[in-house]
Amino acid sequence: MFNLYTQAYEQSIKDPNAFWGAIAEDCHWYKKWDKVLDDSNIPFYRWFTGGETNTCYNAVDLHVDNGMGNTAAIIYDSPVTGVIKTYTFSELKDKVAKFAGVLSSKGVAKGDRVILYMPMIPEAVFAMLACARIGAVHSVVFGGFAADELATRINDAKPKVIVSASCGIEIKRVIEYKPLLDKAIDLSTCKPNACIIVQRPQAKASMKDGRDYDWETEMAKAVPKDCVPVKATDPLYILYTSGTTGQPKGVVRDNGGHMVALKYTMGAIYGVDKGDVYWAASDIGWVVGHSYIVYGPLFKGCTTILFEGKPVGTPDASTFWRVISQHKVKSLFTAPTAFRAIKREDPKALLMKNFDLSCFNYLFLAGERLDPDTLFWAENALKVPVLDHWWQTETGWAIAANCTGLHRFKVKPGSPTKAAPGWNLAVLGSDGHPIKPGEIGALVAKLPLPPGTLPTLWQNDQRYIDSYLKEFPGYYETSDAGYIDEDGYVYVMARTDDIINVAGHRLSTGAMEEVIAGHPDVAECAVMGVADDLKGQVPLGMMVLNAGVDRSPEEIVKEVILRVRDKIGPVAAFKTATVVKRLPKTRSGKILRGTMRSIADKKEYKVPATIDDYAILDEIEESLGKIGYGKKA
Ligand code: COA
Ligand code: AMP
Repeated sequence: MFNLYTQAYEQSIKDPNAFWGAIAEDCHWYKKWDKVLDDSNIPFYRWFTGGETNTCYNAVDLHVDNGMGNTAAIIYDSPVTGVIKTYTFSELKDKVAKFAGVLSSKGVAKGDRVILYMPMIPEAVFAMLACARIGAVHSVVFGGFAADELATRINDAKPKVIVSASCGIEIKRVIEYKPLLDKAIDLSTCKPNACIIVQRPQAKASMKDGRDYDWETEMAKAVPKDCVPVKATDPLYILYTSGTTGQPKGVVRDNGGHMVALKYTMGAIYGVDKGDVYWAASDIGWVVGHSYIVYGPLFKGCTTILFEGKPVGTPDASTFWRVISQHKVKSLFTAPTAFRAIKREDPKALLMKNFDLSCFNYLFLAGERLDPDTLFWAENALKVPVLDHWWQTETGWAIAANCTGLHRFKVKPGSPTKAAPGWNLAVLGSDGHPIKPGEIGALVAKLPLPPGTLPTLWQNDQRYIDSYLKEFPGYYETSDAGYIDEDGYVYVMARTDDIINVAGHRLSTGAMEEVIAGHPDVAECAVMGVADDLKGQVPLGMMVLNAGVDRSPEEIVKEVILRVRDKIGPVAAFKTATVVKRLPKTRSGKILRGTMRSIADKKEYKVPATIDDYAILDEIEESLGKIGYGKKA
């Protein structure tokens, strides 16, 4: 069947140079590229080599220069503080140029890193764009991470400056960020030259003389900076994401490919155009926030909503409908967990009836598997297309989607629809050969990946190869298992590594195990992601204590839970653990996490033939039953 999607898709695979080259004409370049796709150093493919551009110019100044200076660029809607404030493209340009001046005055130049540890406030967006303006590389760290996680990122990125705020606000709780930042700097071996702190009225941060500077004071004396040309292949940002160990992976994003791909997706995938209001209800600390709160909508000239609140509790389950109707949102993008939270509080969607949602065209969901119940509930309540799409921090944009701006396909529940243009997907068996439609295997993408995807990991080319390219030569391994049906619909079933998805947040059970194993009384442990009605998955810990430990297990469980909260952060949502006599293992010593997870989730499982002692599974079932999991709960 011929349609705009098949036309785009086929060209993107057969002739990526022509496809992306034509799309790139829609962006502003100081100097055009020499090559669209540079394959001179395989497997490190690069896009638009030789080209020079500026991400901030394309996101902000270009629209002012094109007469859209008075159009709203950002609507900051903060139910937790009661503030709603709009910034036009001209106002945004002014703030960003000034903050670029502040960064320069603290010695930040092209290529230097700047860490942002910020709540969802406009200053966070100004700071990201200011880095892009002067060619500095930002690395945003999600506010829900603890000081140790921040310290790990400071050590890896070695920032010249850190930008933060006195606090974040979680529903009705004020979370002071500055003590966490101070602790992280104490813990890290690399010290920043300066910290710039936004003082919020809800908490006042104490400042360290000679290192900490107040945002407002610095802005008042700043000399605005203009955009500087950077290479298309220069890094725009590093975003750390969970890997299989406690050492997160620094996903690198370049300037040129990122700009071209994201601007394209705003129309092709999300069906919006300049002047439309677009809302990604996520956090700037995650990739969704980078791509679709900040860069994508601003490249396209859309108005983006910066929402400092939650789907429920700020103040109630009607907040999303209020924001959509008040600001005339056309497309909303969030995680299924947000809709499960709303559905739980307002199962009949009665609160929705108080709002005029006639402006609203599409709901996009991603970040975790979209369960059919949530899909049907959202479709019935909203009466607009509800479109699942699949992507990862590494990819920066959707691998598979229902590209509504090209051709909207029939929704098949459980599938994010088809490979997006540029994505040559395959399903491989463990022998590395493609398997039949409908059969589950490793979901992989044939190289080269399209523009906007990770060119490498920060200063770690080898880890990039080892993590993504080694297992299936010639392909990028997504670490998701799934299948593609006869019609080309993709189904993403589960991760093949120890990454879990908690309320749409990506976490590593391996990293949690490392923290738990550090407790002096713990001999060994296993953390698994078990099913949760609201968050999709939550972590559950099983621990074996050292011989001779005679303290109460309940006390140790409490300490371990606090330890994970303290070292990884509240976002890990690690709240359940239990002490067991032993863990089930194969004869070669591998802990049977999958089997324990099936027991906890009351799923059928095959007793592995290699298990060293069958009786352990009964013990595990008993222990899980006592904490409310499995058939014996
Ligand atoms: N700073 C500090 N703490 C934070 C934080 C931040 N930026 N974000 C979350 N936390 C804390 C929360 O306060 C909570 O702490 P608690 O254990 O003391 O209650 C913990 O981290 C877990 O937070 P969260 O995952 O948000 O769970 P929740 O129970 O507060 O809310 C949902 C549940 C479903 C409402 C919420 O997860 C949500 O809105 N999810 C939307 C999905 C999303 O944005 N995904 C991003 C990718 S698209
Ligand atoms: P993150 O890097 O945080 O975006 O998480 C990426 C992971 O989330 C993917 O590898 C998948 O396991 C999961 N994921 C994201 N979107 C979807 C989706 N639409 N369906 C199923 N899983 C998804």
